[in-house]
Amino acid sequence: MDTQNKWNSLSAERIRNADKTALSGGNIVVLEETESTNSTAKLLAAKGAPHGTIVAAESQTRGRGRLGRRFESPKGAGLYMSVIVRPSFDIAFAPLITSAAAVAAAESVEKLCGEYTAVKWVNDLYMNGRKICGILTESAIDSKGRLDYAVIGIGINVGRTEFPPELRDTATSVEAETGKIIDRNILCGEILVRLEYYLENIEEKRHIGEYRRRELLTGNHITANTGGREVEGYAVGINENANLLLKLADGSEMVLASGEANLCRIRREK
Ligand code: BTN
Repeated sequence: MDTQNKWNSLSAERIRNADKTALSGGNIVVLEETESTNSTAKLLAAKGAPHGTIVAAESQTRGRGRLGRRFESPKGAGLYMSVIVRPSFDIAFAPLITSAAAVAAAESVEKLCGEYTAVKWVNDLYMNGRKICGILTESAIDSKGRLDYAVIGIGINVGRTEFPPELRDTATSVEAETGKIIDRNILCGEILVRLEYYLENIEEKRHIGEYRRRELLTGNHITANTGGREVEGYAVGINENANLLLKLADGSEMVLASGEANLCRIRREK
């Protein structure tokens, strides 16, 4: 146990000890600081890093979120990790990677802290109504149109207790919600176990049932931004492809494959 602070520092050896998978093959890179573990992982992947390579960092100076957003990554306060995967499955299954990672991360967080962890379509984890984790998957296609590799970036607020005013209503951390200090090395190992399983079974969509059970927009009125268009409707559920099914006011149904959606707090389904 480290004495320098209340968190165990991240180390490749500790992650290796916690990792019960064949996924990483021991290829684990832990950095004190990097711009973004996704950017580092993409550089390594472009140079031929093998399937399962893990990049984790104590802090990120330019952590990236979806839609060009920043992901704040203060030193030691979160698990910032990226996994390089070179899938053997068909590119048609690539859109399911993020939902598989979301279930892997939600189950792992919940196992270690005991608090229910929800998934918010498409790539966020929530605890008690606020975000604790975001996932950013970035893919590269080869010259034959096949998936060359995907980098799955997972950022979890583990021990962060201070948030700037603009994030206080929407962001939280495992420690802030539960008072528990969980070991990020063990959390990383737990995520890898589930990620390996769900990716190996992606063609059978084994994670979708759990994704549906945990998805928090379902059954609520929401607003969604998709393809630059703002829509409002009732979230009916999640289909087999992890798309969000929306019922619009005119009774028509819309299938959202990507975008951003939020609870609409004023209107309720009649
Ligand atoms: C989001 O909230 O929109 C996604 C956030 C993803 C953050 C993680 S942290 C590890 C990896 N490196 C990054 O730069 N981003 C992802």
